[in-house]
Amino acid sequence: MLIVYGKCRFLELGVGYSDKDMATNFYSLGSSDREHQRLMRQAEWLVERTGGWLEQIGICAGQRVMDVGSGVGDVSVLAARLVGASGEVVGVERDARSIARAEARMAAEGLRHVRFVEADLERVEFERPFDAAVGRYILMFLREPAQVVRSVARHVKPGGMVGFQEPDFGGFMEMCREMPLWERAGALLVETFERSGTNTRMGKSFGGVFAEAGLGKPEMRRVRLTGAERWMPDCLISLKPTIEELGLSTSGVGDFETLFERLMEEARACGRPAPMKDLVSAWARKG
Ligand SMILES: C[S@@+](CC[C@H](N)C(=O)[O-])C[C@H]1O[C@@H](n2cnc3c(N)ncnc32)[C@H](O)[C@@H]1O
Repeated sequence: MLIVYGKCRFLELGVGYSDKDMATNFYSLGSSDREHQRLMRQAEWLVERTGGWLEQIGICAGQRVMDVGSGVGDVSVLAARLVGASGEVVGVERDARSIARAEARMAAEGLRHVRFVEADLERVEFERPFDAAVGRYILMFLREPAQVVRSVARHVKPGGMVGFQEPDFGGFMEMCREMPLWERAGALLVETFERSGTNTRMGKSFGGVFAEAGLGKPEMRRVRLTGAERWMPDCLISLKPTIEELGLSTSGVGDFETLFERLMEEARACGRPAPMKDLVSAWARKG
């Protein structure tokens, strides 16, 4: 059952959280096998953008790195390759199913220097500090992103690195204009995210979030994604239970399973590229 919480926010009840946890972050995309597959497909599109960025911000051999909101382990793998066996990667993830899948994947890759901690980012504690904390597509789902960045940064050594990659959907709806199916499906996606407390403009909020977290002005880079045409229908498939709980109409969008082909057909007929979101990277050294 879902309840409305404050402005445009709803929380999941009856899944083993305490009353206190009820007032915490809701991950609207869930933890189904389809969602795990979506995350792995997304990771393939982003492998160079995230791998190159981790290298650029100084992740290197021997470091101890936290992967903030590690999902099924895709950022952890990239960090693990850079830190090597003399380093360590610790993924922090709240969902036990995602951790089980991530652990199986690390074992299959022979990456013994990666481990996962099942915890909520708002409450996690560590005994030893990290050289860096990095995260991808996580702050957008958090009720208080600046508070979490501040708390994550507490576990990073002075001079260590804190960095995140988050989306900005700002140009996306503009790119959908005059393509009716893209417009309807895009509007459904954005409304579902926003009504479930997910910030689709997170990449635009980095300046304020880093400043509020005490990290000063971050370095930033913005790119429009390419080659990830399935991203929108993939998200809608994972969001289906949330869409149903919210009682949002899907009429005019049709079967999500055939949506990708129909969207691509429309874009082709209009001679336009598939609308994309931006990926914004932000990073700063802890003073
Ligand atoms: C979009 S996924 C991104 C996973 C991974 N970073 C990647 O890029 O593939 C976000 C993940 O954050 C986790 N998550 C969301 N809120 C969380 C919280 N408060 N504490 C810990 N994990 C959280 C979700 O369970 C989900 O696995």
